[in-house]
Amino acid sequence: MTVEAIRVSPSWLDLREAADGAARARELVGRLRRRVPLDGRWSIHDLACGSGSMGRWLAPLLPGPQRWVLHDQDVELLALAAVDVPGPAADGAAVAVETRVSDVTKLRAEDFARATLVTASALLDLLTADELTRLIDACAGARCPVLFALSVSGRVRLLPADPLDARVAAAFDAHQRRTTPRGRLLGPDAVEAAVEGFRRLGAEVVACPSPWRLGAAESDLAAEWLEGWVDAACEQEPELARDAGLYRRRRLREAAAGALAVTVDHVDLLVIP
Ligand SMILES: C[S@@+](CC[C@H](N)C(=O)[O-])C[C@H]1O[C@@H](n2cnc3c(N)ncnc32)[C@H](O)[C@@H]1O
Repeated sequence: MTVEAIRVSPSWLDLREAADGAARARELVGRLRRRVPLDGRWSIHDLACGSGSMGRWLAPLLPGPQRWVLHDQDVELLALAAVDVPGPAADGAAVAVETRVSDVTKLRAEDFARATLVTASALLDLLTADELTRLIDACAGARCPVLFALSVSGRVRLLPADPLDARVAAAFDAHQRRTTPRGRLLGPDAVEAAVEGFRRLGAEVVACPSPWRLGAAESDLAAEWLEGWVDAACEQEPELARDAGLYRRRRLREAAAGALAVTVDHVDLLVIP
């Protein structure tokens, strides 16, 4: 079967890195810090790492020497991750990085041999139910904590509100759940599926909200997010395009004037085996 690769631009990841960092649930790191590996050394696999934003955020919050294995299918993003490396650790210990070209839907428990933590960020909505199940099985086989951050929940709020918001949101969610050659994507259903999948295997799962709160200071990101949100909605529901043209222009004017507030809800999950 042809695998549809969903490409993500480096400039989009760069634009969102600060907002991602502000949104990530720090309290889950507090729990993780209580589970420092026995020998004090971390071996962390970051799945679908993109340009490496998760490591740059998390490595300085964990004490002890760390070895990060960064997985992605996109060699261009991996090259960026290899240059802009995370660290040092919270106690000044060294952080080493290795990049691996991987399809994360094909990884098995053996690929995580001796891992002390598996992470991913902004990944789960891109998977099908079967792919998520395989990934959960692989992670469970690694018998280490898992931190899956920034999974979209489908809840979005814009202020001021607009009558078209709900229709665009519904079409966007339908686009996220679209059928691809790999099967139907989970989109906003991924969080619930992941929680159920890990709990079925007997793991403890802690969920924390990690919303983006975009105001005047984040107007560039809000505008870029809005463009992608409306584009995807119109691709899903072409008859929306006529009304969405005016809507898009109005919303972009508000964002440029610092008069638009956007909240995009996400959930961070910490899984304790
Ligand atoms: C939204 S980006 C998130 C990147 C990064 N984790 C972050 O939080 O900035 C999604 C990433 O998933 C990667 N990706 C999607 N499907 C993948 C797969 N099957 N195997 C490996 N990487 C994948 C993309 O190349 C992209 O880097």
